[in-house]
Amino acid sequence: MEFLELARRRCSVRAFENRPVEAEKIARILEAGRAAPSACNNQPYRFLVLDNPDSIAKLSKACRTFGAPLAIVVAGDNNEAWVRTFDAKDSLDIDASIATDHMMLEAEDLGLGSCWVCSFRIPALREEFGIPGHLTPVNVLAIGYPAGPKKSPSRHGTERRPLSETVVYNHF
Ligand SMILES: Cc1cc2nc3c(=O)[nH]c(=O)nc-3n(C[C@H](O)[C@H](O)[C@H](O)COP(=O)(O)O)c2cc1C
Repeated sequence: MEFLELARRRCSVRAFENRPVEAEKIARILEAGRAAPSACNNQPYRFLVLDNPDSIAKLSKACRTFGAPLAIVVAGDNNEAWVRTFDAKDSLDIDASIATDHMMLEAEDLGLGSCWVCSFRIPALREEFGIPGHLTPVNVLAIGYPAGPKKSPSRHGTERRPLSETVVYNHF
């Protein structure tokens, strides 16, 4: 599929079939995350795969899971992220989010749906999954087979700002 078509077709899915995601598809999703670029190629991201009902039940103590059979918690290693010398801003969130986006789009390409979740309680994640202090959870990706119809790819005509509001050329 052409990339722009894939990007337009993807939407947040918040209802999933009660059907597991095949191991081969999980492997491809993870490989897409692995292929993501990162600042200085430091690859500070870590992928915690939750692929059984017990783990998803634990996840539901930290955030909404929408009945997804699969979730990936994308965390970043605070000690590994690149740090910009000029102002000490680090790339942890950026790197973790590029990997998350790769996995989200790969899931779409595989006929799955996903929802990117940031509204989670970090202490609950740490407690339930033994996430150590040097790792910061950045995103949760809930994944599965969509239940019900997905949003129309043409919705961006109204649901996104026109480029005239978001793009400038050469000078603000
Ligand atoms: C950084 C980020 C955080 C998000 N956090 C949540 C969340 O916590 N819960 C949720 O239901 N959706 C969350 N979303 C999904 C957005 O609400 C959704 O992408 C946006 O409304 C556009 O809709 P669409 O994905 O269907 O195009 C998040 C998306 C992004 C990119």
